[in-house]
Amino acid sequence: MTEPSGATFLPAPGGLRGVLRVPGDKSISHRAVLLSAVNSGAVRITGFLRSADTLATVAAVRSLGVCIEDHGETLVVPGAGWEGLREPDDIIDVANAGTLIRLLPGLVAPLPFVTVLTGDASIRRRPMARVVEPLRAMGATVVARGGGTLPPLAILGGPLRGATHELKVASAQVKSCILIAGLRASGATIVNEPGASRDHTERLLRYGGVEVERQSPSDGAGSVSVKPIDRLRLGDIAVPGDFSSAAFFIVAALLAPGSEVTIENAGLNPTRTALLDALAGMGARLDIQPSAIAGPEPFGRVLAKSSELTAIDIDPGLVPNIIDELPLFLLAAARARGVSRIRGAAELRAKESDRLAAMAALLRSLGVRVDEHPDGMDVVGRPEGWQGATVSACGDHRIGMVGAVAGLAASDSVHVDDVDCISVSYPGFMNAVGLLGGRVQRDQVQP
Ligand code: S3P
Repeated sequence: MTEPSGATFLPAPGGLRGVLRVPGDKSISHRAVLLSAVNSGAVRITGFLRSADTLATVAAVRSLGVCIEDHGETLVVPGAGWEGLREPDDIIDVANAGTLIRLLPGLVAPLPFVTVLTGDASIRRRPMARVVEPLRAMGATVVARGGGTLPPLAILGGPLRGATHELKVASAQVKSCILIAGLRASGATIVNEPGASRDHTERLLRYGGVEVERQSPSDGAGSVSVKPIDRLRLGDIAVPGDFSSAAFFIVAALLAPGSEVTIENAGLNPTRTALLDALAGMGARLDIQPSAIAGPEPFGRVLAKSSELTAIDIDPGLVPNIIDELPLFLLAAARARGVSRIRGAAELRAKESDRLAAMAALLRSLGVRVDEHPDGMDVVGRPEGWQGATVSACGDHRIGMVGAVAGLAASDSVHVDDVDCISVSYPGFMNAVGLLGGRVQRDQVQP
Protein backbone atom coordinates (compact mmCIF):
# COMPACT_ATOMS: atom_id res chain seq x y z
CA MET A 1 0.00 0.00 0.00
CA THR A 2 1.29 3.48 -0.82
CA GLU A 3 1.29 6.10 1.93
CA PRO A 4 -1.28 8.89 1.51
CA SER A 5 0.29 12.08 0.28
CA GLY A 6 -0.24 15.54 1.67
CA ALA A 7 -0.15 19.13 0.43
CA THR A 8 0.52 22.65 1.63
CA PHE A 9 -2.21 25.26 1.15
CA LEU A 10 -1.13 28.89 1.04
CA PRO A 11 -3.08 32.11 1.48
CA ALA A 12 -4.53 33.26 -1.83
CA PRO A 13 -2.98 36.62 -2.81
CA GLY A 14 -5.90 38.99 -3.47
CA GLY A 15 -8.35 36.37 -2.24
CA LEU A 16 -10.28 33.58 -3.98
CA ARG A 17 -12.27 34.71 -7.00
CA GLY A 18 -14.35 33.04 -9.65
CA VAL A 19 -17.35 30.92 -10.55
CA LEU A 20 -17.44 27.22 -9.77
CA ARG A 21 -19.68 24.25 -10.50
CA VAL A 22 -19.38 21.62 -7.78
CA PRO A 23 -19.70 17.87 -8.43
CA GLY A 24 -22.98 16.04 -7.88
CA ASP A 25 -24.49 15.50 -4.45
CA LYS A 26 -23.11 12.40 -2.73
CA SER A 27 -26.23 11.51 -0.74
CA ILE A 28 -28.48 11.85 -3.80
CA SER A 29 -26.06 9.98 -6.09
CA HIS A 30 -26.05 6.95 -3.73
CA ARG A 31 -29.84 6.97 -3.46
CA ALA A 32 -30.38 7.48 -7.19
CA VAL A 33 -28.35 4.36 -8.02
CA LEU A 34 -29.79 2.18 -5.26
CA LEU A 35 -33.42 3.05 -5.97
CA SER A 36 -33.01 2.93 -9.77
CA ALA A 37 -31.68 -0.61 -9.35
CA VAL A 38 -35.15 -1.74 -8.22
CA ASN A 39 -37.14 0.60 -10.47
CA SER A 40 -39.51 -0.75 -13.08
CA GLY A 41 -37.65 0.37 -16.17
CA ALA A 42 -34.41 2.16 -16.97
CA VAL A 43 -33.44 5.40 -15.23
CA ARG A 44 -30.98 7.90 -16.65
CA ILE A 45 -29.06 9.64 -13.88
CA THR A 46 -27.28 12.89 -14.84
CA GLY A 47 -24.86 14.90 -12.70
CA PHE A 48 -23.82 11.70 -10.90
CA LEU A 49 -20.91 12.20 -8.47
CA ARG A 50 -17.93 10.12 -9.56
CA SER A 51 -16.21 9.74 -6.21
CA ALA A 52 -14.74 6.77 -4.38
CA ASP A 53 -17.90 6.47 -2.21
CA THR A 54 -20.48 6.61 -4.97
CA LEU A 55 -18.49 4.36 -7.31
CA ALA A 56 -18.56 1.79 -4.49
CA THR A 57 -22.37 1.97 -4.76
CA VAL A 58 -22.21 1.38 -8.53
CA ALA A 59 -19.96 -1.65 -7.93
CA ALA A 60 -22.29 -2.97 -5.20
CA VAL A 61 -25.36 -2.72 -7.43
CA ARG A 62 -23.49 -4.40 -10.27
CA SER A 63 -22.59 -7.26 -7.97
CA LEU A 64 -26.33 -7.65 -7.33
CA GLY A 65 -26.70 -8.35 -11.05
CA VAL A 66 -27.70 -4.92 -12.40
CA CYS A 67 -25.76 -3.96 -15.54
CA ILE A 68 -25.27 -0.22 -15.10
CA GLU A 69 -24.13 1.66 -18.20
CA ASP A 70 -21.43 4.15 -17.25
CA HIS A 71 -21.05 7.32 -19.35
CA GLY A 72 -19.13 9.40 -16.82
CA GLU A 73 -21.49 11.75 -15.04
CA THR A 74 -24.41 10.05 -16.75
CA LEU A 75 -25.43 6.54 -15.75
CA VAL A 76 -28.19 4.39 -17.18
CA VAL A 77 -29.55 1.90 -14.66
CA PRO A 78 -31.76 -0.81 -16.24
CA GLY A 79 -34.04 -1.39 -13.26
CA ALA A 80 -36.05 -4.61 -13.37
CA GLY A 81 -37.74 -4.34 -9.96
CA TRP A 82 -36.60 -6.19 -6.85
CA GLU A 83 -36.95 -9.41 -8.90
CA GLY A 84 -34.04 -8.19 -11.03
CA LEU A 85 -31.56 -8.47 -8.12
CA ARG A 86 -29.63 -11.70 -7.55
CA GLU A 87 -27.43 -13.01 -4.76
CA PRO A 88 -23.92 -11.50 -4.97
CA ASP A 89 -21.25 -14.16 -5.35
CA ASP A 90 -18.79 -12.39 -3.06
CA ILE A 91 -18.61 -10.00 -0.12
CA ILE A 92 -19.52 -6.42 -1.06
CA ASP A 93 -16.82 -3.94 -0.07
CA VAL A 94 -18.32 -0.49 0.57
CA ALA A 95 -14.81 1.03 1.02
CA ASN A 96 -15.38 4.26 3.07
CA ALA A 97 -19.07 4.72 2.19
CA GLY A 98 -21.22 4.94 5.33
CA THR A 99 -24.34 5.74 3.32
CA LEU A 100 -23.90 2.55 1.26
CA ILE A 101 -23.42 0.24 4.24
CA ARG A 102 -26.48 1.73 5.95
CA LEU A 103 -28.86 1.89 2.94
CA LEU A 104 -28.05 -1.30 1.04
CA PRO A 105 -29.25 -3.61 3.86
CA GLY A 106 -32.71 -2.04 3.52
CA LEU A 107 -32.75 -2.71 -0.23
CA VAL A 108 -31.83 -6.41 0.05
CA ALA A 109 -33.74 -7.15 3.29
CA PRO A 110 -36.88 -8.36 1.44
CA LEU A 111 -34.88 -10.66 -0.87
CA PRO A 112 -34.38 -14.37 -0.13
CA PHE A 113 -30.60 -14.46 -0.39
CA VAL A 114 -27.47 -13.63 1.56
CA THR A 115 -25.63 -10.32 1.20
CA VAL A 116 -22.41 -9.74 3.15
CA LEU A 117 -21.06 -6.22 3.57
CA THR A 118 -17.78 -4.88 4.85
CA GLY A 119 -15.65 -1.77 4.40
CA ASP A 120 -12.41 -0.05 5.33
CA ALA A 121 -11.07 0.35 8.88
CA SER A 122 -13.17 3.47 9.50
CA ILE A 123 -16.36 1.74 8.30
CA ARG A 124 -15.64 -1.24 10.54
CA ARG A 125 -15.82 1.12 13.55
CA ARG A 126 -19.20 2.64 12.57
CA PRO A 127 -22.24 1.76 14.72
CA MET A 128 -24.56 -0.65 12.87
CA ALA A 129 -27.03 -1.80 15.55
CA ARG A 130 -29.16 1.15 14.47
CA VAL A 131 -29.94 -0.62 11.17
CA VAL A 132 -29.49 -4.24 12.31
CA GLU A 133 -32.20 -4.02 14.99
CA PRO A 134 -34.97 -2.39 12.88
CA LEU A 135 -34.40 -4.84 10.01
CA ARG A 136 -34.61 -7.76 12.44
CA ALA A 137 -37.83 -6.27 13.85
CA MET A 138 -39.24 -6.27 10.30
CA GLY A 139 -38.37 -9.96 9.84
CA ALA A 140 -34.94 -10.07 8.17
CA THR A 141 -32.13 -12.18 9.60
CA VAL A 142 -29.11 -9.95 10.16
CA VAL A 143 -25.87 -10.84 11.90
CA ALA A 144 -22.97 -8.51 12.52
CA ARG A 145 -19.67 -8.48 14.34
CA GLY A 146 -19.54 -7.33 17.97
CA GLY A 147 -22.94 -8.80 18.88
CA GLY A 148 -24.75 -7.18 15.98
CA THR A 149 -23.11 -3.78 16.33
CA LEU A 150 -20.26 -3.51 13.81
CA PRO A 151 -19.42 -4.43 10.20
CA PRO A 152 -18.96 -6.87 8.58
CA LEU A 153 -22.62 -7.76 8.54
CA ALA A 154 -24.65 -10.41 6.70
CA ILE A 155 -28.30 -10.12 5.72
CA LEU A 156 -30.51 -13.09 4.89
CA GLY A 157 -33.61 -11.40 3.55
CA GLY A 158 -37.19 -12.65 3.47
CA PRO A 159 -40.78 -11.50 3.84
CA LEU A 160 -40.94 -8.25 5.87
CA ARG A 161 -43.68 -6.77 8.01
CA GLY A 162 -44.25 -3.04 8.44
CA ALA A 163 -43.41 -1.68 11.90
CA THR A 164 -42.97 1.55 13.83
CA HIS A 165 -39.38 2.46 14.69
CA GLU A 166 -38.15 5.02 17.22
CA LEU A 167 -34.75 6.46 16.31
CA LYS A 168 -32.63 7.53 19.28
CA VAL A 169 -30.49 9.75 17.05
CA ALA A 170 -31.73 11.68 14.01
CA SER A 171 -30.07 9.88 11.08
CA ALA A 172 -31.02 10.05 7.43
CA GLN A 173 -29.03 6.90 6.76
CA VAL A 174 -30.98 4.86 9.29
CA LYS A 175 -34.32 6.42 8.34
CA SER A 176 -33.62 5.68 4.65
CA CYS A 177 -32.64 2.07 5.30
CA ILE A 178 -35.93 1.46 7.10
CA LEU A 179 -38.08 3.33 4.55
CA ILE A 180 -36.49 1.42 1.66
CA ALA A 181 -37.11 -1.90 3.43
CA GLY A 182 -40.69 -0.70 4.06
CA LEU A 183 -41.35 -0.50 0.31
CA ARG A 184 -41.64 -4.31 0.29
CA ALA A 185 -43.14 -4.87 3.75
CA SER A 186 -46.68 -5.93 4.50
CA GLY A 187 -48.38 -2.78 5.81
CA ALA A 188 -47.08 0.70 6.54
CA THR A 189 -43.63 1.41 7.97
CA ILE A 190 -43.20 4.39 10.27
CA VAL A 191 -39.98 6.06 11.43
CA ASN A 192 -40.13 8.52 14.35
CA GLU A 193 -37.00 10.66 14.49
CA PRO A 194 -35.95 13.14 17.20
CA GLY A 195 -34.85 15.75 14.61
CA ALA A 196 -35.53 16.36 10.93
CA SER A 197 -32.69 14.67 9.03
CA ARG A 198 -32.10 15.14 5.29
CA ASP A 199 -35.10 14.06 3.21
CA HIS A 200 -33.57 13.00 -0.14
CA THR A 201 -34.96 9.47 0.13
CA GLU A 202 -38.48 10.71 0.78
CA ARG A 203 -38.28 13.08 -2.22
CA LEU A 204 -37.04 10.33 -4.56
CA LEU A 205 -39.64 7.86 -3.31
CA ARG A 206 -42.47 10.35 -3.92
CA TYR A 207 -40.99 10.97 -7.38
CA GLY A 208 -41.22 7.19 -7.93
CA GLY A 209 -44.91 7.10 -6.97
CA VAL A 210 -44.57 5.94 -3.35
CA GLU A 211 -46.99 7.29 -0.72
CA VAL A 212 -44.69 8.99 1.79
CA GLU A 213 -46.05 11.17 4.57
CA ARG A 214 -44.22 13.37 7.04
CA GLN A 215 -45.67 14.78 10.23
CA SER A 216 -43.71 17.24 12.35
CA PRO A 217 -45.41 17.64 15.71
CA SER A 218 -42.70 19.76 17.39
CA ASP A 219 -39.24 21.37 17.24
CA GLY A 220 -37.92 19.39 14.29
CA ALA A 221 -38.92 15.98 15.66
CA GLY A 222 -41.06 14.14 13.17
CA SER A 223 -42.56 11.00 11.84
CA VAL A 224 -42.25 9.61 8.30
CA SER A 225 -44.34 6.76 6.94
CA VAL A 226 -44.26 4.78 3.70
CA LYS A 227 -46.74 2.39 2.19
CA PRO A 228 -45.47 -0.67 0.31
CA ILE A 229 -45.42 -0.53 -3.48
CA ASP A 230 -45.31 -3.20 -6.20
CA ARG A 231 -43.50 -1.16 -8.80
CA LEU A 232 -41.31 1.88 -8.36
CA ARG A 233 -41.77 4.29 -11.28
CA LEU A 234 -38.90 6.75 -11.19
CA GLY A 235 -38.34 9.17 -14.04
CA ASP A 236 -34.85 10.32 -14.99
CA ILE A 237 -32.91 11.87 -12.11
CA ALA A 238 -30.83 15.08 -12.33
CA VAL A 239 -28.45 15.23 -9.37
CA PRO A 240 -27.73 18.82 -8.21
CA GLY A 241 -24.29 19.93 -7.02
CA ASP A 242 -23.37 18.86 -3.50
CA PHE A 243 -24.08 21.60 -0.97
CA SER A 244 -21.55 19.96 1.36
CA SER A 245 -18.83 20.38 -1.29
CA ALA A 246 -19.93 23.94 -2.15
CA ALA A 247 -19.72 24.77 1.56
CA PHE A 248 -15.90 24.52 1.59
CA PHE A 249 -15.54 27.27 -1.01
CA ILE A 250 -18.33 29.37 0.50
CA VAL A 251 -16.50 29.43 3.84
CA ALA A 252 -13.09 29.85 2.17
CA ALA A 253 -14.43 32.94 0.37
CA LEU A 254 -15.82 34.39 3.60
CA LEU A 255 -12.52 33.91 5.44
CA ALA A 256 -9.91 34.82 2.79
CA PRO A 257 -9.72 38.64 2.47
CA GLY A 258 -10.62 40.07 -0.93
CA SER A 259 -12.62 36.99 -2.03
CA GLU A 260 -15.74 36.71 -4.14
CA VAL A 261 -16.84 33.21 -5.17
CA THR A 262 -20.02 32.04 -6.90
CA ILE A 263 -21.17 28.43 -6.80
CA GLU A 264 -23.54 27.94 -9.73
CA ASN A 265 -25.26 24.65 -9.00
CA ALA A 266 -25.42 24.20 -5.23
CA GLY A 267 -28.11 21.86 -3.91
CA LEU A 268 -30.38 23.96 -1.69
CA ASN A 269 -32.50 21.32 0.02
CA PRO A 270 -33.57 23.04 3.28
CA THR A 271 -32.73 19.90 5.28
CA ARG A 272 -29.08 20.41 4.27
CA THR A 273 -28.44 24.15 4.34
CA ALA A 274 -28.50 25.17 8.01
CA LEU A 275 -24.87 26.28 7.54
CA LEU A 276 -26.09 29.15 5.34
CA ASP A 277 -28.47 30.31 8.08
CA ALA A 278 -25.72 30.06 10.70
CA LEU A 279 -23.26 32.00 8.54
CA ALA A 280 -25.89 34.66 7.75
CA GLY A 281 -26.47 34.99 11.50
CA MET A 282 -22.72 35.56 11.91
CA GLY A 283 -22.79 38.45 9.43
CA ALA A 284 -21.62 36.61 6.30
CA ARG A 285 -22.10 38.42 2.98
CA LEU A 286 -24.07 35.82 1.02
CA ASP A 287 -26.47 36.07 -1.88
CA ILE A 288 -28.63 33.00 -2.60
CA GLN A 289 -30.60 32.72 -5.84
CA PRO A 290 -32.70 29.53 -6.05
CA SER A 291 -33.31 28.20 -9.59
CA ALA A 292 -36.71 27.08 -10.82
CA ILE A 293 -37.27 23.55 -9.49
CA ALA A 294 -37.05 21.00 -12.31
CA GLY A 295 -36.91 17.72 -10.36
CA PRO A 296 -37.29 16.48 -6.81
CA GLU A 297 -34.45 18.62 -5.41
CA PRO A 298 -34.01 22.43 -5.20
CA PHE A 299 -30.72 24.00 -6.23
CA GLY A 300 -29.37 27.42 -7.12
CA ARG A 301 -26.54 29.92 -7.12
CA VAL A 302 -24.69 31.03 -4.00
CA LEU A 303 -22.38 34.06 -3.94
CA ALA A 304 -20.03 34.52 -0.96
CA LYS A 305 -17.81 37.55 -0.29
CA SER A 306 -15.13 37.90 2.38
CA SER A 307 -16.80 38.97 5.61
CA GLU A 308 -16.19 39.88 9.22
CA LEU A 309 -17.96 37.30 11.35
CA THR A 310 -19.45 37.39 14.84
CA ALA A 311 -19.74 34.33 17.09
CA ILE A 312 -22.98 32.35 17.24
CA ASP A 313 -24.39 29.31 19.11
CA ILE A 314 -25.82 26.45 17.07
CA ASP A 315 -29.29 25.37 18.18
CA PRO A 316 -29.00 21.61 18.97
CA GLY A 317 -32.26 21.10 17.02
CA LEU A 318 -30.49 22.25 13.84
CA VAL A 319 -27.60 19.79 14.18
CA PRO A 320 -29.04 17.19 11.73
CA ASN A 321 -29.26 19.90 9.02
CA ILE A 322 -25.66 21.02 9.45
CA ILE A 323 -24.13 17.70 10.50
CA ASP A 324 -21.54 17.39 7.72
CA GLU A 325 -20.73 21.12 7.79
CA LEU A 326 -20.10 21.36 11.54
CA PRO A 327 -16.29 20.95 11.15
CA LEU A 328 -16.36 23.81 8.65
CA PHE A 329 -18.60 25.87 10.92
CA LEU A 330 -16.03 25.40 13.70
CA LEU A 331 -13.35 26.79 11.38
CA ALA A 332 -15.53 29.83 10.57
CA ALA A 333 -16.15 30.25 14.32
CA ALA A 334 -12.38 30.30 14.82
CA ARG A 335 -12.31 33.58 12.82
CA ALA A 336 -15.40 35.14 14.39
CA ARG A 337 -15.43 37.80 17.12
CA GLY A 338 -16.48 36.10 20.39
CA VAL A 339 -17.14 32.55 21.57
CA SER A 340 -19.24 30.17 19.45
CA ARG A 341 -20.79 27.04 20.90
CA ILE A 342 -22.11 23.73 19.56
CA ARG A 343 -23.97 21.20 21.69
CA GLY A 344 -26.05 18.11 20.87
CA ALA A 345 -23.54 16.91 18.26
CA ALA A 346 -22.10 13.72 19.85
CA GLU A 347 -22.93 12.02 16.52
CA LEU A 348 -19.89 13.78 15.04
CA ARG A 349 -17.74 11.30 16.94
CA ALA A 350 -19.20 8.42 14.85
CA LYS A 351 -18.41 9.77 11.36
CA GLU A 352 -15.48 8.91 9.06
CA SER A 353 -13.33 10.06 12.03
CA ASP A 354 -14.15 11.41 15.48
CA ARG A 355 -14.77 14.85 14.02
CA LEU A 356 -14.96 16.66 17.36
CA ALA A 357 -11.55 15.33 18.42
CA ALA A 358 -10.12 15.91 14.92
CA MET A 359 -11.35 19.53 14.85
CA ALA A 360 -10.16 20.27 18.39
CA ALA A 361 -6.67 19.12 17.38
CA LEU A 362 -6.77 21.02 14.05
CA LEU A 363 -7.94 24.29 15.62
CA ARG A 364 -5.44 24.06 18.47
CA SER A 365 -2.58 23.64 16.03
CA LEU A 366 -3.76 26.87 14.32
CA GLY A 367 -3.40 28.55 17.73
CA VAL A 368 -7.17 28.74 18.37
CA ARG A 369 -8.50 28.16 21.92
CA VAL A 370 -11.20 25.50 22.08
CA ASP A 371 -13.00 23.67 24.85
CA GLU A 372 -14.06 20.19 23.72
CA HIS A 373 -17.24 18.69 25.25
CA PRO A 374 -18.62 15.16 24.86
CA ASP A 375 -21.29 16.52 22.49
CA GLY A 376 -19.80 19.72 21.13
CA MET A 377 -17.25 22.47 21.42
CA ASP A 378 -16.70 26.09 22.44
CA VAL A 379 -14.43 28.03 20.09
CA VAL A 380 -12.79 31.33 21.02
CA GLY A 381 -12.58 33.19 17.72
CA ARG A 382 -9.43 34.97 16.52
CA PRO A 383 -10.60 37.63 14.05
CA GLU A 384 -6.96 38.67 13.65
CA GLY A 385 -6.26 35.33 11.93
CA TRP A 386 -4.44 32.17 12.87
CA GLN A 387 -0.93 30.82 12.62
CA GLY A 388 0.39 28.42 9.99
CA ALA A 389 0.43 24.76 11.01
CA THR A 390 0.74 21.13 10.05
CA VAL A 391 -2.61 19.39 10.53
CA SER A 392 -3.89 15.84 10.25
CA ALA A 393 -6.89 14.96 8.06
CA CYS A 394 -7.32 11.83 10.25
CA GLY A 395 -7.98 10.00 6.96
CA ASP A 396 -11.29 11.89 6.76
CA HIS A 397 -12.17 13.76 3.53
CA ARG A 398 -14.07 16.54 5.26
CA ILE A 399 -11.35 17.21 7.84
CA GLY A 400 -8.78 17.25 5.01
CA MET A 401 -10.80 19.91 3.15
CA VAL A 402 -11.27 21.97 6.34
CA GLY A 403 -7.45 21.94 6.71
CA ALA A 404 -7.13 23.14 3.11
CA VAL A 405 -9.59 26.01 3.71
CA ALA A 406 -7.63 26.93 6.85
CA GLY A 407 -4.52 27.31 4.68
CA LEU A 408 -6.26 29.34 1.97
CA ALA A 409 -7.47 31.73 4.68
CA ALA A 410 -4.35 31.77 6.89
CA SER A 411 -1.65 34.41 6.99
CA ASP A 412 0.85 31.56 6.81
CA SER A 413 0.64 28.15 5.08
CA VAL A 414 -1.15 25.05 6.40
CA HIS A 415 0.14 21.57 5.58
CA VAL A 416 -2.48 18.79 5.42
CA ASP A 417 -0.96 15.31 5.86
CA ASP A 418 -3.39 13.49 3.51
CA VAL A 419 -5.24 14.96 0.55
CA ASP A 420 -5.83 11.60 -1.15
CA CYS A 421 -8.75 10.92 1.21
CA ILE A 422 -10.62 13.91 -0.30
CA SER A 423 -11.52 11.79 -3.34
CA VAL A 424 -14.14 10.05 -1.20
CA SER A 425 -16.51 12.97 -1.87
CA TYR A 426 -14.80 15.67 -3.96
CA PRO A 427 -12.27 14.28 -6.48
CA GLY A 428 -11.81 17.65 -8.26
CA PHE A 429 -11.19 19.61 -5.06
CA MET A 430 -7.51 20.41 -5.72
CA ASN A 431 -8.33 21.67 -9.25
CA ALA A 432 -11.13 23.82 -7.87
CA VAL A 433 -8.69 25.43 -5.39
CA GLY A 434 -6.42 26.37 -8.32
CA LEU A 435 -9.32 27.59 -10.46
CA LEU A 436 -10.30 30.11 -7.79
CA GLY A 437 -6.71 31.35 -7.46
CA GLY A 438 -5.74 29.38 -4.35
CA ARG A 439 -2.16 28.19 -4.05
CA VAL A 440 -1.28 24.61 -3.25
CA GLN A 441 1.95 22.59 -3.30
CA ARG A 442 1.65 18.80 -3.40
CA ASP A 443 4.19 16.86 -1.29
CA GLN A 444 6.94 15.22 -3.32
CA VAL A 445 6.10 11.51 -3.43
CA GLN A 446 9.13 9.40 -2.43
CA PRO A 447 10.08 6.98 -5.25
C1 S3P B 1 -25.98 10.94 5.01
C2 S3P B 1 -26.48 11.22 6.25
C3 S3P B 1 -25.65 11.72 7.35
C4 S3P B 1 -24.36 12.33 6.84
C5 S3P B 1 -23.68 11.47 5.81
C6 S3P B 1 -24.59 11.21 4.63
C7 S3P B 1 -26.89 10.36 4.01
O1 S3P B 1 -25.34 10.65 8.21
O2 S3P B 1 -23.48 12.59 7.91
O3 S3P B 1 -22.50 12.11 5.37
O4 S3P B 1 -26.55 10.33 2.82
O5 S3P B 1 -27.97 9.92 4.41
P1 S3P B 1 -26.38 10.22 9.37
O6 S3P B 1 -27.64 9.95 8.70
O7 S3P B 1 -25.85 8.97 10.01
O8 S3P B 1 -26.40 11.37 10.33
